[in-house]
Amino acid sequence: MNTNESDEKISPKILIAYYTRSGNTENFANQIKKLIDGELFRIETVDEYPPSYQEVLKVSKVEIDNQYKPPIKSLVENIDQYDIVFVGTPNWYSTMAPPVATFLSMHDLSEKTIIPFATHGGGGEARCLTDIRQMSSQATVLDGIALYGSQAGTEKERILKWLKKLETFNNL
Ligand SMILES: Cc1cc2nc3c(=O)[nH]c(=O)nc-3n(C[C@H](O)[C@H](O)[C@H](O)COP(=O)(O)O)c2cc1C
Repeated sequence: MNTNESDEKISPKILIAYYTRSGNTENFANQIKKLIDGELFRIETVDEYPPSYQEVLKVSKVEIDNQYKPPIKSLVENIDQYDIVFVGTPNWYSTMAPPVATFLSMHDLSEKTIIPFATHGGGGEARCLTDIRQMSSQATVLDGIALYGSQAGTEKERILKWLKKLETFNNL
């Protein structure tokens, strides 16, 4: 018997999709990538948000209140190939940033395992993770975490601990 063949495990194909405005959620996504073998996908809007923080607060409040989903520049090619999709968002008014809602609504993730993650400015995960879960009701959604934004790039141990708790990554 060829033991190599019988022992061989098929690794799941992993995508790490995220939206970031000021880099924190991207730092978190990069930390995940360092720990697992996944591909990064940055969600980008067709129309950029204004550079001023105060203006973004105004524009995004209107979007969130109206459940508006801003068009995004590109979709993931061949989403079918992925088994696991990490979905990362900054906390915007206690929920996901609208481009993440666009991403979720424009891809068929129904057969996939989704792992939400978020960064925040002091308000914690609020409804970010549960709203991603709610929008992904056809998928299997695992437990996510939210990290304080400015620490997301240095929380390697916490990220590792979180991933290890998920059955898929308990061999890390
Ligand atoms: C429009 C907007 C709304 C925000 N609302 C919240 C909030 O309700 N609670 C919170 O803790 N942080 C809030 N923040 C802070 C961000 O969640 C935090 O800085 C996050 O780490 C930014 O991620 P990014 O650098 O990937 O864009 C808000 C930021 C913006 C721009």
